[in-house]
Amino acid sequence: MYNFSGQTALVTGGTRSIGGAISTALLQSGARVVAVYAGNAEKAEAFRAEQAAHGDRLFLEKLDVSDYAAVEKFFSAYNDKFGKLEILVNNAGIRRDAIVGMMSCEDWRRVIDVNLTGTFNMCKFGVQQMMSARYGRIINITSPCGHFGFEGQANYAASKAGQVGLTRSLSKETAKRKITVNCVSPGFIDTDLIADLPEDLAKKYKNDVPVKRFGTPEEVAHAVLFLAMKESAYINGATLEVTGGL
Ligand SMILES: NC(=O)c1ccc[n+]([C@@H]2O[C@H](COP(=O)([O-])OP(=O)(O)OC[C@H]3O[C@@H](n4cnc5c(N)ncnc54)[C@H](OP(=O)(O)O)[C@@H]3O)[C@@H](O)[C@H]2O)c1
Repeated sequence: MYNFSGQTALVTGGTRSIGGAISTALLQSGARVVAVYAGNAEKAEAFRAEQAAHGDRLFLEKLDVSDYAAVEKFFSAYNDKFGKLEILVNNAGIRRDAIVGMMSCEDWRRVIDVNLTGTFNMCKFGVQQMMSARYGRIINITSPCGHFGFEGQANYAASKAGQVGLTRSLSKETAKRKITVNCVSPGFIDTDLIADLPEDLAKKYKNDVPVKRFGTPEEVAHAVLFLAMKESAYINGATLEVTGGL
């Protein structure tokens, strides 16, 4: 269905859940994939084993996307290690839920640092990498929470709304260089991130979704690959919802 042969993709949080499905779909479509993870080496190694058939095109990198200096260092070595960057998927994300009145400053900061500042850090150096080739596809994974807001998720919602603003602004800056920047906004997707939902709440949320189920990481990956296609050149600054109609 897709052909990304000869292209290199960088996927943050790319070794499990939604990011793992994105990396898998890109590998299956012929891309070279640099999959970044934060620290879960066990899951990263399991992912490498699963992808043995594409092992020569998969590279794992441990990197905290919220650490500006570490991201700068990663990109300063990028050229020598990988050479090109056609597709950047900013998927790494975390939750630290609490109502605002009870939220610690640390939990506010950490979620903004990883989800929003991490996206900025990767976009800044990723765009520099893409500029000289005058081509690129950047896809940032946001959430409907940024638009609607959810009780107990002010930090997460603010970070996800911020990603949309960053995406729209950056898309205007890079358009002349044929670099598009878009968001994919997944609804409830069956992953570790929402595994702690109490059963009754999960049942209620499923019932709220018009298609009456949670989505799969593979369904999100499909939307990401669509935006990553060369043919998607006229889609820029957009947010593609993958929510089952939520
Ligand atoms: N699941 C949903 O229902 C849903 C809905 C809407 C939006 N989203 C968004 O989709 C994205 C992926 O969600 P998910 O459900 O797949 O999450 P997940 O299962 O919790 O996986 C998160 C991934 O992000 C990585 N990560 C976390 N902090 C990082 C950091 N500081 N630097 C680099 N990587 C980091 C993790 O690395 P390790 O493996 O090393 O821990 C992991 O690979 C997130 O941006 C999330 O906000 C998810």
